[in-house]
Amino acid sequence: MLPNVESSPTGGYMEQNHFLMLVCEDSRIIQSVFQVVLVSFLVLGSVRWILDELKSNESCIFKLYGFKQKQAVFVTKEDQLDDSCNVFEGQWVWDNVSYPLYTEKSCPYLVKQTTCQRNGRSDSYYQNWRWQPSSCDLPRFDALKLLDVLRNKRVMFIGDSVQRSTFESMICMVQSVIPDKKKSFHRIPPMKIFRAEEYNVSIEYYWAPFIVESISDHATNHTVHKRLVNLDAIEKHSKSWEGVDVLVFESYVWWMHQPKINATFGDTSEVREYNVTTAYRMALETWAKWFETKINPAKQRVFFTSMSPTHLWSWEWNPESDGTCYDELYPIDKQSYWGTGSNQEIMKIVGNVLSKIGENVTFLNITQLSEYRKDGHTTVYGERRGKLLTKEQRADPKNYGDCIHWCLPGVPDTWNEILYAYLLRGHQNSF
Ligand SMILES: *[C@@H]1O[C@H](CO)[C@@H](O)[C@H](O)[C@H]1NC(C)=O
Ligand SMILES: *[C@@H]1O[C@H](CO)[C@@H](O)[C@H](O)[C@H]1NC(C)=O
Ligand SMILES: *[C@@H]1O[C@H](CO)[C@@H](O)[C@H](O)[C@H]1NC(C)=O
Ligand SMILES: *[C@@H]1O[C@H](CO)[C@@H](O)[C@H](O)[C@H]1NC(C)=O
Ligand SMILES: *[C@@H]1O[C@H](CO)[C@@H](O)[C@H](O)[C@H]1NC(C)=O
Ligand SMILES: *[C@@H]1O[C@H](CO)[C@@H](O)[C@H](O)[C@H]1NC(C)=O
Ligand SMILES: *[C@@H]1O[C@H](CO)[C@@H](O)[C@H](O)[C@H]1NC(C)=O
Ligand SMILES: *[C@@H]1O[C@H](CO)[C@@H](O)[C@H](O)[C@H]1NC(C)=O
Repeated sequence: MLPNVESSPTGGYMEQNHFLMLVCEDSRIIQSVFQVVLVSFLVLGSVRWILDELKSNESCIFKLYGFKQKQAVFVTKEDQLDDSCNVFEGQWVWDNVSYPLYTEKSCPYLVKQTTCQRNGRSDSYYQNWRWQPSSCDLPRFDALKLLDVLRNKRVMFIGDSVQRSTFESMICMVQSVIPDKKKSFHRIPPMKIFRAEEYNVSIEYYWAPFIVESISDHATNHTVHKRLVNLDAIEKHSKSWEGVDVLVFESYVWWMHQPKINATFGDTSEVREYNVTTAYRMALETWAKWFETKINPAKQRVFFTSMSPTHLWSWEWNPESDGTCYDELYPIDKQSYWGTGSNQEIMKIVGNVLSKIGENVTFLNITQLSEYRKDGHTTVYGERRGKLLTKEQRADPKNYGDCIHWCLPGVPDTWNEILYAYLLRGHQNSF
C-alpha cells in the first residue's frame, strides 16, 4: 500500500504519472540521443570520407565530377597555431618515425654542400629530431596544404648560403607531392627558382649575403675575405623583391668575419671601417626604410629570420674538450644554452629595428632552438670553396670542419615547419 496514493489520490496519480512521464521522457531522450548520435556518426562519417577522398589524389569524387586535385586541401583548426604560443621555446624530442620529412635521395634539388650522408657522414641521428614547443604543437607539415595556401603566389628567401639551405629545404619538403612534369627548377643568378606549375606557386631564392649591396653580390664569383658593404644601398637587389607575396629575409654570418667591416654610407668612394654592430644596424635601417616605402602589408607577408648559430668550439658546451662541432651526435640538452656564435648585440639590433616596423613583419626567432643543435652541422661532410673536401682535409676537422652550415635534411626543415605554421595561420579556405 502506498500511503501517498491513499491519502491523496490525485497527487498519487500525478506523481505516478509524473514518474511514468519521466520514464517515458527518459526513453524518449535516450531514443532521440540515440538518433542524434546515429545521424552524427553518419554525417561525420560521410564528411570524413569526403575529406579523405578530397585529400587523395586518386579520389573517385574528382573522377566523377572532374574536380582537379588542386582543390583538395583544407586548413583545419589543428593547423592553426595558438596565438599565445611561443613556438620558439621548447625542446628537441627524438622522433625517428616522422623524421626526416624527406631524404637526400628523394630530393633532386639538394646541392653537394648539404648532402652529408652522400658525402660520407656515417651517423644520421641529426635527421630524427622534432622540435616540440612547450605550450603547443606545431601543425604537421603537409605539402599540399602549403601549395594550396600559396596558390598563385611567389615566395622568396633572401640572404646568404645558410638561407640558400633554408630555400632548398623548403623545396625538398614540397616537391615530392608534385609529379615531375609539373615542376621546374632554374638558376638565374643571383636567383634560384622552383615552380609548381599546377598551383602557379613559385619558391625562389635571392643571393644577398648582407641584404644591402656589397662587393659579394655575385652569386658564385664573390670574395670571401675582402668585404665591402654599401650600407645605404639596396635598390639593386630590392627591385627584384617588389611585389613578391611572401618574403623571408636573413643575414648574419657574413657580417661576423671580424669585429670591424669596411663599408660606405653615401659616397661610395669613401670607404671606412665600421664596428660590425654599427654597420649591421645601419644596413637593417636601410632595409626597414625600403620596407616602409615599398611593402604593402595588406598584400605581402614579410618574415625576418634571426641568426643561425655556429658551433665552432666544443668547450662552450663541453668545458673539458678542445674540438669543434665535428663528431657531435646529439643536441645539447642544457636548457637555454647559448654559445658565443650568436651575437646578443646583433639580436638586440634586429629586435629594435623590427619593433619599429611592428606587426607587419614576423620575426622568426630560431636562434635558441638551433643553438641546441651542435650535431646538425655539415662539418667535414660539406664543401669548401665549391669543392667537396679531400681525404686529407677530412682527416683534419679542426681546420676544415664547417660548423656554420647545416646538413639537409636537418635543422632548417624545422625553421620551415615554423614558417609553414605562420603561413597557415589565419588562412581562409576558399573551397
Ligand atoms: C598519388 O599519390 C601517390 C603518393 O603520394 C603517388 O605515388 C601517385 O603517383 C599519385 N597518383 C597520381 C595519379 O598522381
Ligand atoms: C627508432 O628509435 C628507437 C629508439 O631509439 C629504436 O629502437 C628504433 O630501432 C629506431 N627505428 C628506426 C627505424 O631507426
Ligand atoms: C600566377 O602567379 C603570379 C604571381 O606569382 C600572378 O601574378 C599571376 O596572376 C598568376 N596567374 C594566374 C593565372 O592566376
Ligand atoms: C670573378 O670576378 C673577378 C673580379 O670581379 C674577375 O676578375 C674574374 O674574371 C671573375 N671570374 C669569373 C670566372 O667570372
Ligand atoms: C679595410 O680595407 C683596407 C684597405 O683595403 C684594409 O687594409 C683593411 O684591412 C680593411 N679592414 C677590414 C676590417 O677588413
Ligand atoms: C666600436 O667598438 C669598440 C670596441 O668594441 C668600442 O670601444 C667603440 O666605442 C665602438 N665604436 C662605435 C662607434 O660604436
Ligand atoms: C629571441 O629569443 C631569444 C631566446 O629566447 C631571446 O633571448 C631574444 O631576446 C629573442 N629576440 C628578440 C629580438 O626578441
Ligand atoms: C601595418 O600595415 C597596415 C596595413 O597597411 C597599416 O594600417 C598599419 O599601420 C601597419 N602597422 C604598423 C605598425 O606600421
